[in-house]
Formats: sequence, structure tokens, C-alpha cells
Amino acid sequence: MRLHPPSVVIFSGSSNIPLARQICDHLDMPLSPMYIEHFSDGEIYCRPEIHVRGKEVFVVQSTNGGSDNLMELLIMLDSLKRASAEKITVVVPYFGYSRQDRKTKSREPITAKLVANLIQIAGATRFISIDLHAGQIQGFFDIPSDNLTAALIFKNYLLPKNIPKPIVVSPDMGGVARAKILSKMLNCEVAICQKNRIQKDKVDSMHLIGDVKDKTAILIDDIVSTGGTMCLASELLTQKGAKEVYACVAHGLLVGDCIKNINKSAFKEVIVTNSVTISEETLESCKRLTVLSVAPLISETIYRVCMNMSLSEVFEQTNEPTLFEDHQLRQQEI
Ligand code: R5P
Repeated sequence: MRLHPPSVVIFSGSSNIPLARQICDHLDMPLSPMYIEHFSDGEIYCRPEIHVRGKEVFVVQSTNGGSDNLMELLIMLDSLKRASAEKITVVVPYFGYSRQDRKTKSREPITAKLVANLIQIAGATRFISIDLHAGQIQGFFDIPSDNLTAALIFKNYLLPKNIPKPIVVSPDMGGVARAKILSKMLNCEVAICQKNRIQKDKVDSMHLIGDVKDKTAILIDDIVSTGGTMCLASELLTQKGAKEVYACVAHGLLVGDCIKNINKSAFKEVIVTNSVTISEETLESCKRLTVLSVAPLISETIYRVCMNMSLSEVFEQTNEPTLFEDHQLRQQEI
């Protein structure tokens, strides 16, 4: 059964239009036009080009890269709220500013909470994201919020490779829960790296807890930014006797020397999703980089939200075809 485009509409900001198009293709509905313009001084103007009064609206926008994508999202939400959309779900595949999610020193900000507040005040009535930096960020929202996991996508990609003796590795203590999810899916053990930072975005040293000798290590993390964490972890795992090292990372920010670092590293393959746009040029310059789409996961979630269906089945989903396709088939059979 298709969603009903006149009453359900999907808009996209400019952060990741290819992903928004893929989501719409999966749902077999159009991407509705949002007019976005920058004034000469850099201020942003957004206006939906169709009317939204009384509609169920979804807005797809990752908030990576400084503040323009975030500001654009807030302005889109304000325009939709003032235009009387009935429900506004923000789909933020990559939720930026999420790494500052608690105070580790006095006088530090908690930007994840600040951004959650801004999104709600701007008009969102539901929030959907993928692999939030910490699961408890869901609680920063007082509206329904769902934290999807890319582990499903990684599992479906890795299983057919029949990787010999796999072991899932978390590159830090904060990622252990995420590593456990993938290890359960791949039916293997978990090892943990303990990382020490000298600066906010520079890792100093790492220690390994667990045995990776003669195994294939599969590192899993939420973000690869400069690649410092992942590359240091891959060196450590190789030193400790891992035969091959893969990386699975939900959000490929790939900033600074990240691609250079990956090209110099011992990784067999670095697998990221398209939660953040990855250019053809980047893909060309890094043959070990694989990009998997989160569109099936997001479209399935949108479908279920609109149909008031359970989302836990998406989180627990293990088989292809996706439940969304399966549900469509069942509908056709009836
Ligand atoms: C930090 O806690 C995150 O989970 C990532 O490990 C980190 O953001 C990766 O950053 P980078 O690639 O710059 O080391």
C-alpha cells in the first residue's frame, strides 16, 4: 500500500538531496519542492512551494558541517509550522553537534541538548535519526524520537562475504553498546579499544581489551571525521595480530586528511553510509571506501510512522526483503 502523497509530503534541505530522492523513490512518491535561497549576507530563506495546511510533513536534513545545514533545517521547520502543517517529522540522518552530549569539565556546553531544544522550538513534532552519538540523546527531546541503527545495513553487506573468524571491535568505551549490536547480528565476540585524547579531535594512544590474533577485526563507530580514531585502532589491531581489518561507520564526515589517512592505513575496506553526502571525487580518491544507502531504512521508518505501525520490528529486522516491501507484498496479496 502506498502512502497518500496529497496528505503526506516529504521535503529536503540542501544537505543531502540525493538521499532524500532515494527515500522518495523507495516510497514511490515525489520529493516536494522547497525553495531555498541565500541572501547576499549569507542569511537563509526557505519556503515550501506547495501548501502544507493539515498535512503530515517529513523534512530530511543532515546537520553536518558547521551551522548552515542546521540553520536551514530550523528555518524550514519555522516555515512549515507557520503554514499550519499538522505533523512535522524531522529526519536527521546525521545529527551534528551530538558529540558534546555531557559536561566533562566545568563551564562546558551540552550542544546536543541545545540543538534538540532548537529543533523542537522551531516546530518539529517527531525526530528520527540514525546512530546518535549516544543513545541517551533521544531523551533530550520531549517529542517522540527514534534512533535507528545502521548495523542492519552493515550486517546485510558483511554476511555474504563470509568473513573468516570475525570479531567486532569498538574503538572506544562509548561505542561498546553499538559493537554488541553488530556482534550479536554476526554471531561473534567483541573486543574494545580504550582511547586517550590529547585534544578534542586528536587521539593520543590506545589499548586493546580482547584477543584479535588471527581474526578479522570489524571496527564499528558512529562517526569517522579526521579518521584519527579509526586509523589508530586499525594499527593497534594489526600489531595485535588481526589478519584483516574492516571499518563500519554510520556517518562518514571524512574531513581534513581523513582520506589520506585511510589510504595509508591497513584497512581492507572502510564502509560508511550516505547519511552525509559523499562526493564522487572522494570515492574516486579512496578505492577502499564503500558507501551503503540508508534510504531503505529511513523509507521503511517513514512508512511505518505514517501507518501507525511498530518501529521495533525495524530495529529487530533481520531478513531481506525489508518489512516495508514485505508489507507491500502482503497488501497486494490481500
Ligand atoms: C567519538 O567519540 C566518536 O565516536 C568518533 O570516534 C570520533 O568522532 C571520530 O573522530 P575522528 O575520525 O576525528 O578520530
